[in-house]
Formats: sequence, C-alpha cells, structure tokens
Amino acid sequence: MAGAIIKLRFTLGVPEFMHILAIALGGCLRAPPVRYGITEDTGGHIAYILGAMAALARDPRVTRADIITRLFDDPALSRVHAQPREAISAKSEIIRIDSGNRHYLAKEDLARDRAAFTRALIEFLRASDRRPDIIHAHFADAADVARQVRNELGIPFIYTAHSLAHDKAAMMQNSPALAARLKEEDRAIAAADAIIASSRDECERQLPAYPSARFDRIHRLRPGVDVADVRRSDLIRARRLVEPFLRQPSRPMILAIARPVHKKNLVRLVEAFGSSRELSARANLVILPGLRAGVKRGEAEHREVLIDLVDAIDRHDLHGVAAWPSRHDSRQVAAMYELARRSRGVFVNPALTEPYGLTLIEAASHGLPVVATRNGGPSDIVAELEHGLLINPLDPEDMQRAMLRMLDDEVLWQRCSRNALVNIGGMNWRDYANGFLSIAQEIASADRTGTTMRPRRMLISDIDNTLTGCRKGARRLSAFLTRKRASVGFGVATGRSFVEARRLLREWDMPVPDVLIASVGSEIYWRTGRGFRLDEDYAAALAKGWNPDAVLAAMDDFPGLVRQAPIEQRRFKCSFLADGPDVLNRVRDRLASRGIAAKAILSHDRLLDILPVRAGKHAALAHVAAVLELPRDRIVAAGDSGNDVDMLAASSQAVLVANFHEEVRGMAGLTHVYTARRSHAAGVLEGLLWHERRSRTKEAAYVAA
Ligand code: GLC
Ligand code: MG
Repeated sequence: MAGAIIKLRFTLGVPEFMHILAIALGGCLRAPPVRYGITEDTGGHIAYILGAMAALARDPRVTRADIITRLFDDPALSRVHAQPREAISAKSEIIRIDSGNRHYLAKEDLARDRAAFTRALIEFLRASDRRPDIIHAHFADAADVARQVRNELGIPFIYTAHSLAHDKAAMMQNSPALAARLKEEDRAIAAADAIIASSRDECERQLPAYPSARFDRIHRLRPGVDVADVRRSDLIRARRLVEPFLRQPSRPMILAIARPVHKKNLVRLVEAFGSSRELSARANLVILPGLRAGVKRGEAEHREVLIDLVDAIDRHDLHGVAAWPSRHDSRQVAAMYELARRSRGVFVNPALTEPYGLTLIEAASHGLPVVATRNGGPSDIVAELEHGLLINPLDPEDMQRAMLRMLDDEVLWQRCSRNALVNIGGMNWRDYANGFLSIAQEIASADRTGTTMRPRRMLISDIDNTLTGCRKGARRLSAFLTRKRASVGFGVATGRSFVEARRLLREWDMPVPDVLIASVGSEIYWRTGRGFRLDEDYAAALAKGWNPDAVLAAMDDFPGLVRQAPIEQRRFKCSFLADGPDVLNRVRDRLASRGIAAKAILSHDRLLDILPVRAGKHAALAHVAAVLELPRDRIVAAGDSGNDVDMLAASSQAVLVANFHEEVRGMAGLTHVYTARRSHAAGVLEGLLWHERRSRTKEAAYVAA
C-alpha cells in the first residue's frame, strides 16, 4: 500500500516528498554534541547517521528525516536517552522506542530485546499519521527490525553495514559468535532492497563474498566529511597531551589513532619505528590508542595490547620520542592531525585489515599525508584521494620505507597534502543526500516491468570525460535521453567496474542505462525490470582461452609497469599503471613472445589493460547489437580516449568529443567519426543529433532515388 503511494509520487522522475526513517539500535545516539567513546558502541556510525540525516533534512524534497533508536534509562549516560523524543531540527528528530527493557545494552546484548523493540516500533508506526517512505537500517540488527517492519507495513529499506565481519572471519578462529554475526549480515544483505556502502572494497569485494549478495543491489555512496575547524586553544591542548612525552616536540610527527586491539597492529608500528635508527632519530611517534584508565583496567584484549605497546617502547628505548596519551577529547584529536600536518609528519594506519578506514579520511581533511595498510578499504581510499602510500602491514621494513619516503620526499609530501584537501571536497553530505534520494527513487520504481527493450536507435557512450566533465551538458543530454526513452536506447561502455559506473552515472544525474558495458568491454550488464543481469553468454565466450595467471606472470617485474589496485583486477581484465606510452609495444611483444592470446590497451598514456582477445568495448558493442538485432548503423558510439579507439573505429557512426585525448587524434580524420565542436556530454548530444540528421538525409535520398 505504501508502495503504491511512493510509485505515484515518483512517476514524474523526481521524488517530490520523502519521509525517511533511520534505525540504529546501539550506542548513545543523541542530538549533537555527542560524547563519542562514552561507551564502546558510541562511535563513527553515529556521526554518519547524524550527518546523513541532517543533510537529508536540509533537502527540500525531504519532508522528514527522523531517527529511531532504543530508549534506555541510565543516569550515568545522560538522561536524554530516556526521553521519547528529542528534536534535532525542524524536519528531524530522534524517536526513542521503549522495548520494556530500560537498560543500556552493549552491541552483543542487543539481541535480547529485539523482538520486543520491533513490536513496539511497529505499533508506533501503525499509530502515527505519517508513515515513512523508506527506512535506512544501520547494522544488521537494525536491518532485521526493518525487514519485519517491511513485512508488516510494506515500507522498503536500505541497509548500511558500517563494518562487516567478513574479513574478521578470515583472520581469526571462527567462533560461534562470529559465525552468527556473519549469518545475520547475510540475512540483512538478502532482505535489503538496496545496500549502501562507502568504499569500493566493501561494495566490490566484501559484500559480494556473502552468499546472498546480489551485485545490482549494492551501491557506493560516500559519506560526507565534516572538517572540524581547529581552534588555537585546541592546538594548545593537543600539544599539552604529547609534550610530557617528547624531548623535541617539533620534530615531524608520525601519528596513529586506533583502538588497542590486535588487528590494529599498533605494536608492529612501534617495532618498525623503534628498529629504524633514522626514524627514531628524526621523528616522533604519537599513538592515540583509545581512552584508558591505566593499563591494568578495561577489556582483556585492550590490556594485552597496551602492555605490549609499553613493552615495545621500553625495549627500543623510545622514551622521549614516543607518546601515548591516555585521555583526549574529539577536539584534541582533530588538533592532533593538524599538529602532525604542521610538523610535516604523516598519519599511519598499520591495521592487519581495515573494513573502511575513516581515520584516513579524517587525516585527508586536515591535509595530512598517510601511510596505510593495503588490506581492505584503505587501498581504495588512497587510490581515490591520492594522498599517501600503501604498505604490507606484516612487513615492518615496508612500513619503515614508506614512512621515511614521506618524510624525505618533500615533493611527494606536498602533492599528497594538496591532493587530500582537493579530493576530500568531493565527499560532502549534500552529494550524499542527492545520491541517497536517487537510490531511494530507484527502489521505488524497481517493480516496473518492461525487459523487452526494442529501441530504434541507440547511444553507447564512454563515461569518464565523455559523459562527465560539464554539469550543464550532462543535464541537457540526460533530459534528451529521458525524453526520447521510447525510441533512443541508452548504453554506456566504460573502463570502470559496474559499481563505479553506476555511482558516476548517479552522481551525474544520467538516466539508468539499458545496457552497461563495464571494465573495458569485458563485462556486459543488461537492465531488467528489477535490477541488472550479467550477460553470461558474453562471459562464456571470453572465458575460452583466457588465462589471467599467465598474463600476470608475464608482466611480473616488467620494467615501467606496476599493477593497479587489487580492486581494479577483474575476471577478464588485468590492469596496470605504465610509466609512459612506449611501454605498450614492449608489453605486446612480451605477450606475443610468451604465446599469450590477449590484447593490450593503453588509455591516458598510463592506464594499461590486458583483456581476452575477444573482449574490448567494440566487441561488447557488437554483442549488444546482435542481441538487440539492431543494425550497426543504428548505434552511435561516443568516446574520448585510448580504450574507446576500437569502438569508435569499428562503429559506423562515431562521435569524438572535442576534449578528446591526444592518443586518439588519428580517429578525428575518419569519415564515419564526427568530431564535436563541444566538449563532454554536450559534444555527445551534438554528435548524436548530427548522425541522426545525416541518416535521415541519406534515407530521404534513398527513397527519392
Ligand atoms: C578505468 C579503470 C581502470 C582502467 C582504465 C582504462 O579507469 O578503473 O582499471 O585501466 O579505466 O581503461
Ligand atoms: Mg573516457
């Protein structure tokens, strides 16, 4: 029933009114200021929820953005948690549901009152005159609640996991508790109408590893970053935290901030720092290992790690160069990043594995370069923000090398610091709210049928620098495609992965494509009535004779070539960074000399992909044309750079946007290629219309003759 209402509202394309409800059960959730760390579970997810809901409430398309949590009565944790309602802003409040159990419950005990909580919440929603249109569940336990609410009331829900147990399970002995958590996460993944995660690693590696995951329900949406403005008084207070430990506080600061648990690998960082003469002679090591009241109090694991930490400091005689303050507030933490940057220092996250890596984002927001574990989220955060170096957390020498490089190489340090500040600008709550609303809209319109796409003509366009680059042009093209939906099909062909392609299309307000050719034409996804379907026939054709291990072996230690991040490596795509365009021919020679059937494609002078011979954007386009039984002269292909060449060369109607890369200049002279006067999406539209006019004239001439 609620579904029907949403559908009506959404038929015009833009969600006009939206009532959003977030659910989170754990921690001390309250209107700001939040006392982070007051309990173990009062952490990052609360900042996420408050930031997200505040931005949604500011959006004029949103009528309400409320937050549901548990009511509990524990004077030590503030009376506010016993208040059934707490206003945040005019359009947003926290609603506390009384399950009957008024104790504060830690994460592992929350299951105890879940059934009662769920019943009470459903009662509350039934009684209220305004039902939410969509629920956003935070963590798997809230997803379980949301699933039951949907069963009763038909409200769809989005799930955000925050910190998946998948990698934990791979690292540790499988305990029954962990197994239960994995199961619960899998249930949440199975039930959710959509899943939102922050990093590529979560979207493309961790989530798909769950048995119930469906790739097309997973969306990447980056949370905003609230850059804390650091006051002078905060800097002074932060300095006071470390000065008692340090002989020369002005040295470059190597900063680490993490809870004292084994997987954060702090002790190995001390070992790496302490066993390098150079590092301990030139820099200070500052660790903020959570809050503590002595090393003999608190949880067993915390005690163990803290004792190992002191022990390592002692053994390496790091007194005077290592600081590990016991108490700090959030303003001092922000100021510490700032002090580290001013000292020309570096932030280090040495974790064995990290689901996301929020501290790397915080460091970036202060312009502080990082050295981070290559396992988990950090590798794609660093690839995206380009503000640091990755290390193998098991290898102290690797850690030392990276830290020293950051301290020694002024040009590198400056570049990382600048990149951090520029690239972090793309992570803001306004964009998050926009993205959230379009995902919600997609869910609401997901039950539309119509798998039988029979366009008369079709556009297949590259994404980066072809569709993207100019907002105004993108809006015009998008409006054109939406208007012509019935007759002009829309497809994209990109070097990006499926998840990233969808994120970019969403961020650029492009229509959902009918077909999505991803990973340099090595994967094809068809839009169906309810999501996307991988083209298995195409995959089967590519699999014949494809041996990625042989490719990787042949490229091992190849001069001038390094592998792109693990997340960029796909089933039919091995990707590298080349140090210049002349690597291409040497790579081709090497493949030939090893008798490996594969094709190498270079884009932007430095992105090198090796694919099965039968893959590539052109091959994928030809496959799409065959499936749709669309004559080739009914497809217009548009692009701008190296990996578009085969597609542009072989299409009978091609468009080169004005901002094309030098490496495709040769294409511009070909008769079937229209070189647009405009750049980016405006150029695509110009080319599309040009080809349309030309084929009409041709047809007219044919009819007349
Ligand atoms: C995208 C991909 C990358 C590839 C490049 C060129 O940027 O993420 O792996 O090398 O396109 O095709
Ligand atoms: Mg491009």
